[in-house]
Amino acid sequence: MENKEEASVNNILEIRGMSKSFGSIKAVDNVSLKVKTGEIVAVVGPNGAGKSTVMHTLSGVIRPDQGAILIDDSPVKIRGPKDSRQLGIEIVYQNLALINTLSVASNIHLGREILRGPSFLSWLDTDEMQTTSRRLITQLKLNLDPAQPVEGLSGGQRQAVALARAIFHQARFAVFDEPTAALGVIETRATLKVIEDFRDHGLGVIVVSHNLEDVFSITDRIVAMRAGRVVGERLTKMTSPDEIVGLMLGGDVDGENTEWSM
Ligand SMILES: Nc1ncnc2c1ncn2[C@@H]1O[C@H](COP(=O)(O)OP(=O)(O)OP(=O)(O)O)[C@@H](O)[C@H]1O
Ligand SMILES: [Mg+2]
Repeated sequence: MENKEEASVNNILEIRGMSKSFGSIKAVDNVSLKVKTGEIVAVVGPNGAGKSTVMHTLSGVIRPDQGAILIDDSPVKIRGPKDSRQLGIEIVYQNLALINTLSVASNIHLGREILRGPSFLSWLDTDEMQTTSRRLITQLKLNLDPAQPVEGLSGGQRQAVALARAIFHQARFAVFDEPTAALGVIETRATLKVIEDFRDHGLGVIVVSHNLEDVFSITDRIVAMRAGRVVGERLTKMTSPDEIVGLMLGGDVDGENTEWSM
């Protein structure tokens, strides 16, 4: 892991007082949360709790009615996916983020292709893109062939391509919404490893998951949501699956207390 960021790091991403309604449904109700560099935060909660809606505001697909998004403690405006990406936010979906028919190298360079020749007649420099990708793959210790089309890759390998791309695009922050929902045991393990790699490369990470085993195995902090609200936050090592389930179901709730102890 690189330590160059650590001295200056505070909250890489912060959401303050976010609300979003769809008609009469208050999908997100005054949600605040923070993620630091090198930290994996789980967002958990029952179906319809508002988790994905919050994540969609980070990707720019949904605009919140109220509230602020801050990156490195400065308020930012996310009007669409382009803004989101420019701010260094990487949204990692299991399949959607990659183009199947292109190679690993082309997917890593997607949106930042290396061109050759004069600007009026430029063409893709595939050799150079493969060289850059190979260097990156070696550096990240990933098991990938840059020339291979993405369509033959497993779920875990796809996530690895997403990691390489995020690092290449100098992403600061990544969101995974249900990354292991459709995966088998082996692929799940590989995917969790890649998410840990994101953290170890100094990105802040949010993982939305229904799988508490995954949540407890890789996250540093857990934010529980219910009915659009944050109903509790715990350091992963200081809590238990029973306590988190209790928060999600509405037992002993500390919903008014969303202060952070760190
Ligand atoms: N585009 C939309 N239009 C109308 N209602 C929506 C829309 N998106 C979400 N909702 C509603 O907002 C609420 C929160 O939904 P959201 O998808 O954020 O929940 P979630 O916590 O991600 O649930 P799940 O665990 O099932 O993915 C739900 O009541 C949902 O029906
Ligand atoms: Mg969801």
